[in-house]
Amino acid sequence: MSYTDYIFNDYRRRCDELEASTNPFAKGIAWVGGDYVPVAEAKIPLLDQGFMKSDLTYDVPAVWDGRFFRLDDHLDRFEASMKKLRMVSPIPRQEIRDRLVEMVAKSGIRDAYVMMFMTRGLRYVRQYAPEDCPNHCYLLVTPYLWVMGEEVQKAGGSAVIARTVRRIPAGAIDPTVKNLQWGDFTRAIFEARDRGAMYPILSDGDGNLTEGSGFNVVLVKDGRIYTPRRGVLEGVTRKTVLKLAERLGLDCVVDDIPVQLAYDSEEIMFVTTAGGVMPITILDGQPVGDGQVGPVTKTLWKAYWDAHSDPEFSFPINYY
Ligand SMILES: Cc1ncc(COP(=O)(O)O)c(C=O)c1O
Repeated sequence: MSYTDYIFNDYRRRCDELEASTNPFAKGIAWVGGDYVPVAEAKIPLLDQGFMKSDLTYDVPAVWDGRFFRLDDHLDRFEASMKKLRMVSPIPRQEIRDRLVEMVAKSGIRDAYVMMFMTRGLRYVRQYAPEDCPNHCYLLVTPYLWVMGEEVQKAGGSAVIARTVRRIPAGAIDPTVKNLQWGDFTRAIFEARDRGAMYPILSDGDGNLTEGSGFNVVLVKDGRIYTPRRGVLEGVTRKTVLKLAERLGLDCVVDDIPVQLAYDSEEIMFVTTAGGVMPITILDGQPVGDGQVGPVTKTLWKAYWDAHSDPEFSFPINYY
């Protein structure tokens, strides 16, 4: 029996139930232009600057087994991102929150990947003063997505530290504003594939680690947890993992982390909402530690998924 079974067995059963659902929103529901539509029918206007210039921010909380996980933390970060981009939501925070809960309930999806977008809004090409654009909000709920699937989680995934591309500097694009300017990540994903690995980690170009394509990086060395302080999105999953690690009595270091520490680590985890705690057991073609999913990763993996039913971190959705 794998350490992942106790979560995945139930999850697979819920997926089968969702598959059999006749609810028109069971494959996803979007809120666009004031209406709820099945996700396959949702459209954004071409002239939205979110599409034209990637002038947007977004956030992604999840629902697990019918409970919203850390929704208010994601709303806090979404609001902070909007403020940094000088955006003003057309609807109050409480309405975004209520609509997201309503959408999950309407869809019947018990394990959901939830997205909220704020874009600069509509402007005609070249007639553009960002401060004049009324910002647009789009909401989306789909079945849960995995950055690392069940089979890979069992044995651990493979990663490289990218050599051909670095993370865009924070002085150019602020990584604490959750954004979709993925040029550096996309190049790094192709490099990882070319080198026979699944995922890239990017450095800051000055010998420190940053993050990877949609996840934060957590290292374990001598029983201590390390994760980069800057040049990264301040992930909600990472925040949860650090809190759980501290409760388990582990020392946590959030600082500049030299790339070399990744090669010297006993365990490596990637952490993100869309996948949770994801073990990495091969780095640049070499085993991480003994090449197995390590004890700290397994302990945090379980603590993380257990937190999803803890009222400190989550609340239940009333499905109709
Ligand atoms: C670049 C990047 N870093 C880190 C994360 C992890 O953030 P969170 O744990 O809040 O999902 C994400 C999530 O999508 C991301 O896109």
